[in-house]
Amino acid sequence: MNILVTGGAGYIGSHTCVALIEAGHTVIVADNLCNSKADTIDKIKQITNGKIIFYKIDVTDEIAVNTIFATHQIDGIIHFAGLKAVGESIEKPLEYYYNNLISTMILCKACQKYGVKKIVFSSSATVYGNNVVPFKETMELLPTTNPYGETKAMSERIITDIVKVNPYMSAALLRYFNPVGAHESGLIGEAPNGTPNNLMPYITKVAKGQLEKLYVFGNDYPTVDGTGVRDYIHVMDLAEGHVAALNCISEGVHIYNLGTGQGTSVLQLVKVFEKANATEVPYEIINRRPGDIAECYANVSKAAKELGWKAKRGIVEMCRDAWIFEKYSELSKESDIEVAATKER
Ligand code: NAD
Ligand code: UFG
Repeated sequence: MNILVTGGAGYIGSHTCVALIEAGHTVIVADNLCNSKADTIDKIKQITNGKIIFYKIDVTDEIAVNTIFATHQIDGIIHFAGLKAVGESIEKPLEYYYNNLISTMILCKACQKYGVKKIVFSSSATVYGNNVVPFKETMELLPTTNPYGETKAMSERIITDIVKVNPYMSAALLRYFNPVGAHESGLIGEAPNGTPNNLMPYITKVAKGQLEKLYVFGNDYPTVDGTGVRDYIHVMDLAEGHVAALNCISEGVHIYNLGTGQGTSVLQLVKVFEKANATEVPYEIINRRPGDIAECYANVSKAAKELGWKAKRGIVEMCRDAWIFEKYSELSKESDIEVAATKER
């Protein structure tokens, strides 16, 4: 299939491009590079030895989006493009509502106009709010505490309504849990701008000595050791989940949790990281982060049953691959990164 991947230069998008190309699809990326770099596209080519078509466009620009649909026969889209920082969304709500919702509407409009059959959307476990774990797709969505979460719930609703009136279309709304890790080549991974907000990239910066210590947000949650529990999933497993969804969906809207079903606490993750990489991650316990929930993990039986997809990589691989990517990310020559990553493994 010819697949349009919006946000394909980003963290999850780039790994999904690799999985799509390896599965034999033709990939067309649309990304404005507001949170990514153009050289990621070259790295995807290098990993796959494949071809990729790249448009540097903003997907809130309807004319630019339509040009892509008019130029290529698009069979399906995977819509990753969006702003994703929860805290920033509270400070800049309009930017989040505008970017994340207008992009979804413009893409849906183009899919309708050009008769595109398959839509895959990046949603988030954040739409479950404070439901009781493990989260199941059938649960009622609870209001989130931030505009980012609202844009995910609203985009799910927009896509659902569009598919209802276009019976030839099908959609997969994929609710991701906590993606971590990197492609095993060490060439692509998560490279947030500035100080990371998320746990794994923060840990790798501490391990590298670029940040002094990890601040653990609270140890008084009702969890195994008092620290927050999340369902970490290797980004390549997540990427493969998209390929499975694209292949399997037909008719209607299908919602899938993409996680492992396993909860890991902050301190458990730190311990596994230290052991897997023979390194140290000093930490200090501080207050809870406002808006955080105690536990977030998935019931993954629906994706296993209907998509035949299950996460294969464990927490040790997630820690190892995140570390390899971070460690060698300053090497400028791609061949040096590959040699270093291969030796490490
Ligand atoms: P990312 O920031 O690395 O990737 C998003 C990409 O979209 C970037 O390359 C950015 O340049 C691009 N982009 C943003 N707005 C755009 C626009 N208007 N036009 C064109 N390109 C635009 O983020 P990610 O972690 O890869 O997340 C991808 C998707 O998955 C997002 O929609 C995010 O909300 C969702 N998601 C992420 C997580 C997570 O923890 N990473 C969890 C749940 C859901
Ligand atoms: N944490 C720390 N210290 C840090 C960063 C995080 O202790 O420096 C803790 C958090 O309190 C939480 C856990 O580590 O218990 C994971 O936090 P992250 O920020 O890595 O991830 P979240 O679960 O808060 O949120 C992520 C994405 C959201 C997405 C959600 C879906 O950032 O966009 O997963 O489950 F919606």
